[in-house]
Amino acid sequence: LPRFIYRSIKINHVLSRNLSTTQRNDFRVTVVGAVGGIGAPLTLLLKLQPDLVTELNVQDLVKWTPGVALDISHINTAVKVKAFTGAEQLRESLKGADIVVIPGGVPRKPGMTRDDLFGANAGVVRDVAVACAETCPDALINIITNPVNSVVPVFCEVMRKAGKLNPSKIFGISTLDLVRSSTFVANLKGLDPGKVVVHSVGGHSGISIVPLLSQCQPSVTLTPDEVKTLTNNIQQAGTNVVKAKVGAGSAQLAMAFAGARFAFNLLRAKKGESNIVECAFTLNNSHGTKYFSSRLLLGKNGIEKDLGLGKLSDFESECIKKAIEAIKKNVAKGEQFVK
Ligand code: LMR
Repeated sequence: LPRFIYRSIKINHVLSRNLSTTQRNDFRVTVVGAVGGIGAPLTLLLKLQPDLVTELNVQDLVKWTPGVALDISHINTAVKVKAFTGAEQLRESLKGADIVVIPGGVPRKPGMTRDDLFGANAGVVRDVAVACAETCPDALINIITNPVNSVVPVFCEVMRKAGKLNPSKIFGISTLDLVRSSTFVANLKGLDPGKVVVHSVGGHSGISIVPLLSQCQPSVTLTPDEVKTLTNNIQQAGTNVVKAKVGAGSAQLAMAFAGARFAFNLLRAKKGESNIVECAFTLNNSHGTKYFSSRLLLGKNGIEKDLGLGKLSDFESECIKKAIEAIKKNVAKGEQFVK
């Protein structure tokens, strides 16, 4: 063979070998609290995505966890399902996990704020964090358990104490605020909700939720009254579901969808897809608090870049000021708990 052809074959061979060793397509996802109201539908959605999920570890405290895992395992997709029951098997369930999704914990009842769940749920998140620090410190962590604004700091502080903190890999899931924003704007303007993108920044609780309606894609014209009403409806949406469920818990199905969407986008980015942008509540001191949900470009190792908040309207800037004050208190509560 002429020398240059031989050299290019050799180079291509080396390149493709390197690509095949760095390009991963087999991902293990562990769901902690997989049998609960959010966990079960979330696990179902993960089972339906064999292109992104290879192995699905189903962990929960209840003794019928193997039954739920067996049930889901009968769905004819290539995703391999394994059950892990009780706190004793938590560590085993986390081994080799690429993503750990945590929907476990107690939901709200009417009249409660998310903050009222701190006493019940902070300990759950702390224990999972201790197990993750020991077993899968490099995994991408998705925390759905409320109050997100306080338990994400709990998780991060446990990791910090263990010397394993990587802020690019720990996410509080605020995706449902984006999902709701798209739906509410689309319903008001007669658009297809699947084609409307609205980012929501700040945190995931009451006034800390700030939908960036002025940056909606496609761009929509909203009167100041419409902006106020939409913002309030988005901030109160979770509470309205809690009220409408009259004591039977909070959002489960839409939250499962939102949790799955975020996990899928992380996996797509991990596979090498570019331009994947989501908002999530992370350790991020670029916006006036230690933690903030910003627009994030996702990459192979979690957060690749904070894309910032873009051009804000005066109304949004005012909302963000209020959000920052609320988030600061929520974060202090989480940090104090771990001290
Ligand atoms: C939601 O936004 O629906 C969840 O955070 C659950 C809740 O308590 O509101």
